[in-house]
Amino acid sequence: MNVNATPMTHAPIAIRSASAADLDTVRGLLQSAKLPTDGLEEQFGEGYAIAEFDGVPIGAEGIEVYGDAGLLRSAVVDTAWRGRGVGDALTHNRLAWAAQHGLREVWLLTTTAADYFPRYGFERAPRDAAPPLMQKSREFAEACPASAIVMRRAIG
Ligand SMILES: CC(C)(COP(=O)(O)OP(=O)(O)OC[C@H]1O[C@@H](n2cnc3c(N)ncnc32)[C@H](O)[C@@H]1OP(=O)(O)O)[C@@H](O)C(=O)NCCC(=O)NCCS
Repeated sequence: MNVNATPMTHAPIAIRSASAADLDTVRGLLQSAKLPTDGLEEQFGEGYAIAEFDGVPIGAEGIEVYGDAGLLRSAVVDTAWRGRGVGDALTHNRLAWAAQHGLREVWLLTTTAADYFPRYGFERAPRDAAPPLMQKSREFAEACPASAIVMRRAIG
């Protein structure tokens, strides 16, 4: 895991699967970052990962499942922790989760991070090329504007 804790402490940063009890925490992280929370509750659970420092949530990222495709959403790191590899650890964790769950591809929509995700193999794709079921998701249909950039990455 490429995560650097603050030099003054040896408390670990951990990445764990979310549970229903984390929903409000993740909603708060997203609201702080001005990211959409629409439909967050619909597939909230083990498809989401939580990053913690000394037991305190500092980031999250989730994958919603639509058939054999995943929709990566809600990638967020607390502002105080950005640039230290927490997002990197979360993204690697979720891509591994996608592979473990037999997903064949992962999609995402973004208005803020189109230059971040190519390092993980995501490439821009036409919006209407996404799986039809995924296009009906609240993230696709409501939360992200038509101008959002759509990206896709094959798994495996
Ligand atoms: C995007 C985000 C999750 C990345 O988490 P992070 O812990 O800061 O990222 P890491 O420390 O793993 O990686 C830092 C690197 O990513 C780059 N980066 C971070 N956010 C970026 C962005 N929005 N666009 C392009 N590059 C970005 C940094 O410049 C840095 O680059 P470097 O390695 O070349 O120096 C975090 O910045 C965040 O919460 N942003 C606001 C919410 C957001 O836009 N989420 C994406 C929704 S699709």
